[in-house]
Amino acid sequence: MSKKPRILVLNGPNLNMLGVREPAIYGSLTLSAIEALCAQTADEVGLSIDFRQSNHEGELVTWIQEVITKSFDGIVINAAAYTHTSVAIMDALKMTDVPIVEVHISNIFTREAFRHHSYVSPVATGVICGFGAEGYKLALRALASKIIQ
Ligand code: DQA
Repeated sequence: MSKKPRILVLNGPNLNMLGVREPAIYGSLTLSAIEALCAQTADEVGLSIDFRQSNHEGELVTWIQEVITKSFDGIVINAAAYTHTSVAIMDALKMTDVPIVEVHISNIFTREAFRHHSYVSPVATGVICGFGAEGYKLALRALASKIIQ
């Protein structure tokens, strides 16, 4: 059997606090529960995932660089607040040549104006927002249909 395509699933600052963080906006699932959902979905669609979270911009940049050095086949990224501020994350994503799905748990366009701009969207293949944790599953399914012919 050939090797499963490898997807790097990245989560930015404060997402480690899901479950207790503003549940009315982000829901009640913890990040570990979302990781389990992702693992199950990846299994169903024939992908393998490496699921990570960091509160540090530079660490996220270093991990995105691993897409090149360690040959990942796709990226799912919820850059959280760095979505709206980070040229460094945008530049790192630009270096890769794999499909990228930007995910947000909340619908950023129904929220404060500063959340309406994303540095990730211009370099992403597609964007999913507003579907809660389900967005991660949709993102993995979208990547599978792009990567697996
Ligand atoms: C978020 C939306 C961002 O605006 C916010 O800073 C986050 C989470 C989301 O998943 O809805 O931390 O990316």
